[in-house]
Amino acid sequence: MPEKASLKKYNSFGIDVKADEIIRIKDLNQLRNWHLKNRDKKFLVLGEGSNVLFLSDFKGTILLNEIQGKEIIEEKGDRIVLHVKGGEKWHDLVMWAVENNYGGIENLALIPGKTGTAPIQNIGAYGVEIKDVINKVYAYDFKTGEEVVFSKDDCRFGYRDSIFKKPENKNRYFITGIDIEVSRANHKLNTSYGAITKLLNEKGIHTPKPKDIAEAVIEIRRTKLPDPQQIGNAGSFFKNPIVSKEKFEAIRKLYPDMPYYKIDARHIKIPAGWLIEKAGFKGKRFGNTGVHDKQALVLINLGNASGKEVKNLAEKIIAEINKKFGIQLQPEVNFIE
Ligand code: FAD
Ligand code: EPU
Repeated sequence: MPEKASLKKYNSFGIDVKADEIIRIKDLNQLRNWHLKNRDKKFLVLGEGSNVLFLSDFKGTILLNEIQGKEIIEEKGDRIVLHVKGGEKWHDLVMWAVENNYGGIENLALIPGKTGTAPIQNIGAYGVEIKDVINKVYAYDFKTGEEVVFSKDDCRFGYRDSIFKKPENKNRYFITGIDIEVSRANHKLNTSYGAITKLLNEKGIHTPKPKDIAEAVIEIRRTKLPDPQQIGNAGSFFKNPIVSKEKFEAIRKLYPDMPYYKIDARHIKIPAGWLIEKAGFKGKRFGNTGVHDKQALVLINLGNASGKEVKNLAEKIIAEINKKFGIQLQPEVNFIE
């Protein structure tokens, strides 16, 4: 039986909106049957709601991804291929992997959300993106009613981007599972983020295992990012902007301490959190919303915020950053109406 319910606990911002109905999708057959009978209905596929902002009640059906399961499907020397169903919780998968001493996803510990959502914005943290381990993405195509398999190249991964984020594919696919390739020996661990190395050194760990990295990442993340169970948020609200070298040089003349990451000979990525802090927003409250005091890239719900209030704050920040730095911030979060 479909449930008509509040979406408050199904979005990490904790926005109190309702949907016409919520259906828990447990397998591909159930999804296909639902689709065949409801071709004209408005719907939204949802994982854990940790990257969405509901702007109003959702006048349609929410399809929650609860397709469970994982298995090793290939073993090749030091490496194995895992098939993981889309409804598995991403962080649980990371912890299961490191407990088994599998390497490759440990830097992505504590990222909320379902495994099936992870490829959509190519989740990333601490020098690793899911594209580094993905072999295949499996999806149900609402346009054709067929199951499709995407190779890694088909997915056209980029920074917080993939084919699934393109406007023409919006609401076209339900990602049902992924294949990832991880190591079970001779791990190539990524400790390029200074904070990870520093923390491991402090703990006296000089030859880290995947689990040590995951634990360091969890510790670092807890100092900066608010727990959505306590403070509603969706992680980074904006993407870090990528600007031309000329633009970067002009800003750096004024702010020689600005942190940055070189992308290629002509492009530089600037942390949006730094821009927002410099514009004076960090830790500020605006009615029921605010800017997190430990990470200015995170917008927060102080209790009873509506999606529109959060959007208003985002627009205020976008306008101010544009005025001050001539940079147009792009939201990372998906706005839902
Ligand atoms: P949802 O919010 O449920 O959905 C996101 C979008 O994908 C929606 O448009 C939805 O319709 C669509 N969608 C969901 N599931 C499917 C599916 N199976 N098929 C097709 N479409 C689907 N992200 C990072 O990259 N790195 C981080 O370090 C990071 N840290 C975070 C920290 C916090 C505290 C929070 C709250 C968020 C953070 N995020 C981070 C963002 C978020 O965790 C990721 O974007 C995650 O992949 C979202 O998963 P979800 O299942 O919650 O997606
Ligand atoms: N910074 C500030 N002030 C702030 C926040 C950041 O000056 O308020 C500076 C930091 O001092 C640092 C730089 O900005 O020099 C980068 O900060 P941080 O390492 O915290 O990372 P980020 O660029 O703000 C990105 C991702 C996060 C990911 C972290 C760790 C994006 C949009 N965000 O944040 O992803 O966890 O790196 O790798 O790329 C998410 O996508 O939701 C998310 C949380």
